[in-house]
Amino acid sequence: LNNISEAYMKQKDSCFWVAEIDGLVVGMVACLPSGSAPECMELKRMSVRHSHRRMGIAKVLCQTVADFARDRGYLAVILCTSVVQTAAQKLYEGMGYVKIAEFI
Ligand SMILES: *[C@@H]1O[C@H](CO)[C@@H](O)[C@H](O)[C@H]1NC(C)=O
Repeated sequence: LNNISEAYMKQKDSCFWVAEIDGLVVGMVACLPSGSAPECMELKRMSVRHSHRRMGIAKVLCQTVADFARDRGYLAVILCTSVVQTAAQKLYEGMGYVKIAEFI
């Protein structure tokens, strides 16, 4: 996040979005083509301000990435999250994501 344009805006098919309410940034998400699976887009940096959770913002951010990926011909959106982030896992499962692998 020290250099968003370098990390998320330079590479082809990458992008970075923020969600704003009244000029305040309340959420963000980014995506990049997956390094390991070139037909997949990888969702990165999903975050919503604590005070603005449970309002559907993450869902809209997820959908933004999904639409961006689909428009560019990617077959799937993939992501990694930590096993301790149970709230994040629930969110993604609620969006239709399925767990395909677990790493120690
Ligand atoms: C971010 O990276 C760009 C090159 O893509 C560079 O021009 C810019 O100076 C960098 N900004 C910072 C804050 O390091």
